[in-house]
Amino acid sequence: MAILTIGQNICIENAVVLAPMEDVTEPPFRQICKEFGADIVYTEFISSEALFRGVEKSKRKIEFSEKERPIGVQIFGSNDEPMVESAKIVESYSPDIIDINFGCWVKNVVKNNAGAAMLKDPPRMQDLTKKVVDAVKLPVTVKTRLGWSRQTIVICDVAKRLEDAGISALTIHCRTREEGHKGKADWSWISKVKESVSIPIILNGDVKSAFDVKRAFEETGCDAVMIGRAAIGNPFVFREAKEYLTTGKVLPPPSIEKRIQICLKHLKLNIEYKGLSKGIIEFRKFYPSYLRDLPNSSKIRAKLNISVSFDEIQTLLLDYQKELVDSDFDLYECWQMSSEINQTME
Ligand SMILES: Cc1cc2nc3c(=O)[nH]c(=O)nc-3n(C[C@H](O)[C@H](O)[C@H](O)COP(=O)(O)O)c2cc1C
Repeated sequence: MAILTIGQNICIENAVVLAPMEDVTEPPFRQICKEFGADIVYTEFISSEALFRGVEKSKRKIEFSEKERPIGVQIFGSNDEPMVESAKIVESYSPDIIDINFGCWVKNVVKNNAGAAMLKDPPRMQDLTKKVVDAVKLPVTVKTRLGWSRQTIVICDVAKRLEDAGISALTIHCRTREEGHKGKADWSWISKVKESVSIPIILNGDVKSAFDVKRAFEETGCDAVMIGRAAIGNPFVFREAKEYLTTGKVLPPPSIEKRIQICLKHLKLNIEYKGLSKGIIEFRKFYPSYLRDLPNSSKIRAKLNISVSFDEIQTLLLDYQKELVDSDFDLYECWQMSSEINQTME
């Protein structure tokens, strides 16, 4: 059994954690994932430069509620002073972890030498990390990738350097910067990194189901598993994974009623957090995942995507739910097929 220890306060068996995701891991979604068993949640990445300049929108991204704990707040940047000062600002909100993003692959971030660009200069990554670690009392963790490209994988060196810099855990998205989100995540690097350092290693990349979570722990000896895209519209994956890890029981998929209920709950929380108009409009990106694999869902999505009224959205979803429940659609059969496919792939 894996035990993830970070700092004095975090000690979790078989930890399954929610990945930081921009515009996704905001308080409403974090709260829902927590309810379904996510052991740690993270904010989206927050610009250290913006925090340093006191930009209100960025400061708001640090906010969280007590029920989300343990929570990590993620910052990114490449300059000493903004990184150190923004870490101190984050610390004043008392999260459980300050996480540094050295993995973001997008052009606008790497062109400023932040995110995955640091993989081109491990000594600089180490130096900047040490400055942040030394500036705060909270545990500092890092999330990064294997390297800039397949030809320049530096993760073992980077892990040693970051351990020396004093970080409390390292999350590895098992792809390179050049791969972005394409190709298959290469988990084989996790056991190699585990041989070279003693800090906890959190595996990330292509973990899509409870089966994947168990396989990740067993195949790599990682200390925790982080789930990103597979949790979007599917927070149930955390409960399924925790149950499978602890009892070996495979939970059936959530019923259609449950999926619609959680979708509406998420929408309500989003409206509370952002206000009616923004809360509804910015929620539209979640419908495809909550309604994934359901019949004729494109028709209902087209209507949901133009609605600006919570009551109307609720009626649309509940009518759709009734239509599915009254029809012959067999969610259980659909789930059995996909879980058989998953097991064959194990
Ligand atoms: C929409 C989206 C936003 C993301 N934003 C962040 C971010 O703010 N910080 C970060 O470290 N990674 C971010 N990522 C990367 C994820 O945390 C994760 O590393 C990646 O999706 C691979 O994991 P997965 O295969 O479980 O999705 C983002 C990914 C997605 C899909």
